[in-house]
Amino acid sequence: MYDVVIIGGGPGGYAAALYAHNFGLSVALVEKDRVGGTCLLRGCIPAKSWLKTAEVFTHIQKAAEFGVNVGEPSLDWGAALARKNNIVDGLVSGLGGLLKTRNVEVIDGYGTLADGGVEVVGADGETRRLETRNVILATGSKPRSIPGYEFDGNRIVSSDEALDWEERPNRVAIIGAGAIGSEFAFILGSTGTEVHLFEMLDQVVPGAEPEAAKALTREMKKRGIKVRTGIGVGPAEVNQDRVVVPFEGEYVDVDKVLVAVGRAPVTDNIGLETTKVEVDRGYILVDLNTMMTAEPNIYAVGDIVAGTPQLAHAGFAEGIAAITHIATGETAPVDYRAIPLVVYTDPEVAAVGLTEAKAREAGYDVEVHDHGMRGLGRAIILGEVGGLVKIVSEKDGPILGATVVAPAAGELIHELMYAVAWEALPAEAAAFIHAHPTMSEAIGETLLSAAGRSLH
Ligand code: NAI
Repeated sequence: MYDVVIIGGGPGGYAAALYAHNFGLSVALVEKDRVGGTCLLRGCIPAKSWLKTAEVFTHIQKAAEFGVNVGEPSLDWGAALARKNNIVDGLVSGLGGLLKTRNVEVIDGYGTLADGGVEVVGADGETRRLETRNVILATGSKPRSIPGYEFDGNRIVSSDEALDWEERPNRVAIIGAGAIGSEFAFILGSTGTEVHLFEMLDQVVPGAEPEAAKALTREMKKRGIKVRTGIGVGPAEVNQDRVVVPFEGEYVDVDKVLVAVGRAPVTDNIGLETTKVEVDRGYILVDLNTMMTAEPNIYAVGDIVAGTPQLAHAGFAEGIAAITHIATGETAPVDYRAIPLVVYTDPEVAAVGLTEAKAREAGYDVEVHDHGMRGLGRAIILGEVGGLVKIVSEKDGPILGATVVAPAAGELIHELMYAVAWEALPAEAAAFIHAHPTMSEAIGETLLSAAGRSLH
C-alpha cells in the first residue's frame, strides 16, 4: 500500500514525487514515457535550447558592430539538434537519479484509476494493480489543432515534431502567435527560414501588454518574419511537396505548417468515469486550496487543472500543494496572483500579476508607468535598446502587475514578482538602489516614476 500513486511524470507529477520525501511518504510514479513530461521532453527545455542556438546565430551576425569580425555564420542544424537532445537526455537522466535517491518508485506503464487504486499496463502488456491511500493525477496536455489543419506528422505538425525536425525547413507557416508560435517564429526566423506567423487576435502574445506585443512585433519584422494579426486562415491544402495556406483571398506556399493554437488536457481514458471527479471540457475541477478533486483522496495538478495557467512552474507549485495536504492535512495554496510568465523570444517578454487591461477589468483605479531602454547605458552597450518596463499599480496603492521586455527579462521579472506578491507600494520598492549600469535600472526608474519622483 502506497501513500501516494502519481500518474504522470511531468513537472507536476515529478515535483509532487520529489517533495513527498520531506514527509517520508511512500510514492510510486507511473509514467508511460521517459520521466520529464512535456516541459522536459517536448516543451520548455528543448525549445529554449533551439532559442539559444538562434540567439548565438543572431549575435554572430551582429558581431562586426562590436568590432569583432568573424564572417557570415552558417548553421549546422544537426549539431544544434544533437545539442538539444543531449541537454534533454542529461536532464532526464539527472531527474531519474534524483527520483531514485528520494526513494520514488518509478513504474513504467500506462496508469488508470480503478476501484480506489491504480491499474498499470506495462510496455510488455502485463497489468499490475497498485493499492494506495491517495492518487495525484498529473497527465498533462497535448497540442490542439483547428479544422483544416489535422496533424499528419509531416506537413502539418505541432511543436512536438518541430522540435525534432532534422533539417531547417525553408518556408513555414505558424498558426497562433502565443508563447509557442512566437518562440518558434524566432527560432526559425532568426536562422534563415521564411516565416509566416498568423494570429487570429489583434496582437502577438495576446495576453501580454500591447506595448510588449508591439516591441516584439518590431523585432520579428527586423528578422523578416511576416507577422499577420487579426487574421483567420482557411483550411490548408496539402500537396505532395508543399502546403497552401489561404487567408483573406490570398495564400502562402510553405513546406511545413506549425499549429500552435493552445494545448488540450489529457484526461480521456484514465478511468475518471469510475470516480466522482468532476470535469469541465476535459479539465479537472479541484479545490485550489488543496488540489483535491470532488473524489476525496484523488488530486490533480498541472496542465489538466481547470482555470490555472498551463506552465511548468505552476505545475511544480501545485504538486507541492497536493503533497502538503496529503501529508499534513494543512493547506499550502498556490499564489496564482504572482506567477511569472516568460516568453523566451529575443528580447524576452516577461510578465507578472495583472496587465493594465486586466487591472481595469477587475475594477481598480489604475496608474501606469513605463520606461524604455533607449537611454539606458547597459542596454546601449549590449545593443539591446528595443525593450521596456511597464508597471501597473493601484492609485495610492500597491503594485498590481508588471511587464519587462529585454534580454533575460525572464530573470529580471522576479524582483517584480516579489513586489506583486508582497503588495509593495511603488515608493517602498523604489527605496532600494539598483546597480549601475544594469538592465534592472529600467525597473528602478519605472518604480521611481510610479512613486511620483522620476529621475532620468
Ligand atoms: P497559447 O494559448 O499561448 O497561444 C495560442 C494562440 O493561438 C493564441 O494567441 C490564439 O489567439 C491563437 N489562435 C487560436 N486559434 C487560432 C487560429 N485559428 N488562427 C490563428 N491564431 C489562432 O498556446 P500555445 O502557444 O500553443 O502554448 C500552449 C501552452 O503552453 C500555453 O498555455 C502556454 O502558456 C504554454 N507555453 C508556455 C511557454 C512559456 O511560458 N515560455 C512556452 C510554450 C508554451
